[in-house]
Amino acid sequence: MKKSIIMAAALCITATACQKNSGSGDAEMDAFISELMSKMTLEEKLGQLNLVAGGDITTGDALNSPIGAAVANGSLGGTFNIKGAEKIRELQQLAVDSTRLGIPLLIGMDVIHGYETIFPIPLALSCSWDMDAIETSARIAAKEASAAGINWTFSPMVDISREPRWGRMAEGSGEDPYLGSQIAGAMVRGYQGDLTSPENILACVKHFAFYGAPDGGRDYNTVDMSRNRMYNEYFAPYKAAVDAGAATVMTSFNTVDGIPATANKWLVTDVLRDRWGFDGLVVTDYGSIAEMEPHGVAKLADASAMALNAGTDMDMCSFGFINTLKQSLEEGKVTQKAIDEAVRRVLEAKYRLGLFDDPYKYSDTSLEKTNIYTPENRAEARRIAAETFVLLKNDNNTLPLERKGRIALVGPMADNALNMQGTWAVTADHTKYKSLRQGLEDALGSNGTVLYAKGANFYSDPALEAGVSPGGSTRDPRSDAELLAEARRVAAGADVIVAALGEAAESSGESSSRTDLTLPANQQALLDAMLATGKPVVMLNFSGRPTVLTAEAAKVPALMNVWSPGSEGADAIADVLFGDVNPSGRLTATLPANMGQIPIYYNHLNTGRPEDPANPNFQRYRSNYIDSPNEPLYPFGYGLSYTDFDYSNLRLSAPSLNADGSIDATVTVRNTGSRKGTETVQFYIRDHFASISRPVKELKHFERITLEPGESADVTFTITPEALSFYNSNLEFVAEPGDFSVMAGPDSERVLSADFALK
Ligand code: BGC
Repeated sequence: MKKSIIMAAALCITATACQKNSGSGDAEMDAFISELMSKMTLEEKLGQLNLVAGGDITTGDALNSPIGAAVANGSLGGTFNIKGAEKIRELQQLAVDSTRLGIPLLIGMDVIHGYETIFPIPLALSCSWDMDAIETSARIAAKEASAAGINWTFSPMVDISREPRWGRMAEGSGEDPYLGSQIAGAMVRGYQGDLTSPENILACVKHFAFYGAPDGGRDYNTVDMSRNRMYNEYFAPYKAAVDAGAATVMTSFNTVDGIPATANKWLVTDVLRDRWGFDGLVVTDYGSIAEMEPHGVAKLADASAMALNAGTDMDMCSFGFINTLKQSLEEGKVTQKAIDEAVRRVLEAKYRLGLFDDPYKYSDTSLEKTNIYTPENRAEARRIAAETFVLLKNDNNTLPLERKGRIALVGPMADNALNMQGTWAVTADHTKYKSLRQGLEDALGSNGTVLYAKGANFYSDPALEAGVSPGGSTRDPRSDAELLAEARRVAAGADVIVAALGEAAESSGESSSRTDLTLPANQQALLDAMLATGKPVVMLNFSGRPTVLTAEAAKVPALMNVWSPGSEGADAIADVLFGDVNPSGRLTATLPANMGQIPIYYNHLNTGRPEDPANPNFQRYRSNYIDSPNEPLYPFGYGLSYTDFDYSNLRLSAPSLNADGSIDATVTVRNTGSRKGTETVQFYIRDHFASISRPVKELKHFERITLEPGESADVTFTITPEALSFYNSNLEFVAEPGDFSVMAGPDSERVLSADFALK
């Protein structure tokens, strides 16, 4: 075998392979901070390492809370989840005027998919495959949040996940490392820009690392994976965010190789800092130092020392650093140097924000009135939301609907703006948003009528519902039978039925793991009753994760996943239902055919006994199931349009490439339908023989193109050795000479293929 080509490591497995990220080497900043630190007492230093929740989102009173007192006595470096520029300004003033050195505060917030202009949840945004749109969503979120006094968002969440049982899939970008990396970079650029503008804020990449792979899909559960999997499948988006200049990183709750991530020196120092060159601030997740006690690793004092020694700088809500590091220093468990390094990184984050020049840079309270939930921001959210919907089925051109007649709108999401905002809409102003019912009424105007009946709650069981819909507040007290009877009556007078079904806002997100991802029985009964009318039924599936839609897809003529679409979701759905916008979303996570297939993902290994794809039946002694196909219901990359695209003539510019060369793979895509449409052209690679088994396909390139009816375009992917590289068993990033295929298509299954070699 020829020698493998060792690439300049994408994940930098040697300390020298990566350049230091920007920020270090800033002599002025270093001098300023050294001077400041020379004046600080140990107590003041430990105060900087302490990050405490404001509690204000729930109580509405930050100033008169213990936070006010802590700010005044200099025992915290930052706080978070306080809403309101005025309050934040007062806190900042307290920090500046009442403490000895007047060090300003970091003011954090979980601005995950918008501040008051709420964008679709991140999983939905990823389905747009539109990096400009995603960057715009982050820029607008930062613009609004900064106008409200926030200077640090705990986003982007870039955890790759193949675990739809895990509710936090809602917060990430799905299952693919390449797409996830593009999105991670776009989000960081959107939030931070170059950090000189008061409309940019610090990004925080989370949750480092591997939080998206908990055993059984249960939140906070054990993660255990091979280095091969870490390096080839899970690390890339974190690294991409760091490369894009992310200023801060948050550690995850889970263990990595048995050691909680927060205190895992290999992860935080060896990989993140030394190999990847990250020189920013590492903050823990909420209480994760204290959680090292139930993890069975250490009680608070030792846990704090371990976390600091691992390279973690700031303690979110464990009160371990502030209360125990002084004693640990005396006992020699930590060094003054380690404390100083952490303090320096906190101060550097503040310096990069410009807070030492102007502590009130984010405190222009007039901006709260002019920059938040503006018509421009809302228009972007509406446009972007429409790009995230994934049309899964559309028999007989059921969609788009004609903008006339009588439309029956039923289901727990039909008149429920609250639940359309999705998880982590903590800063939303729920008085402002439209429900789908209002959206359809506005779109129809005097041309038609919306006939509404709820038809079903999210769940029959009130206890289940209380846990998922904020406060259970949108529940209808009537019985299932009464709700159903009303829906039948309403549907009887309609020309077409839209069923708005699925998950409530808090069915997904943190602490929202589920074992059954099928539609609850009462919602299925509603759908069946609607189908029994014999009228055309469009099912809109609202969800924060891939759900199991096999039963529904078998019977409804039209099915569209609309996720949690956000504050402008109602208008965006109307735009797509009535055909003003042609749907273009593509799945970024596989939709399983049944629960038993989970985890199911497109970029799997072939195994030594792959099933024969030509044989649909169970094949004994092959890698398949007795009672289910291997195939998902809908594959990664899948999504329909109101027009059709044809792929042809995948060709290569040469049959092989050299270690320092490249070849072009080009495919012709033609719009064969009668509407203008946007297609996401996807290119995948397969490495047929390598020193470690490689996936059956891996996404390596994609392009969104818009074509008029009858128009065609050539789309090219330039294949380089880097695109063919992977981490071998020595964790070297290598391109191994041999045989490859390149595939191009509209999704990960329907592909054209061509073979080539790397010489
Ligand atoms: C979550 C983080 C979040 C933090 C602060 C934690 O429970 O895991 O994603 O940023 O809380 O609110």
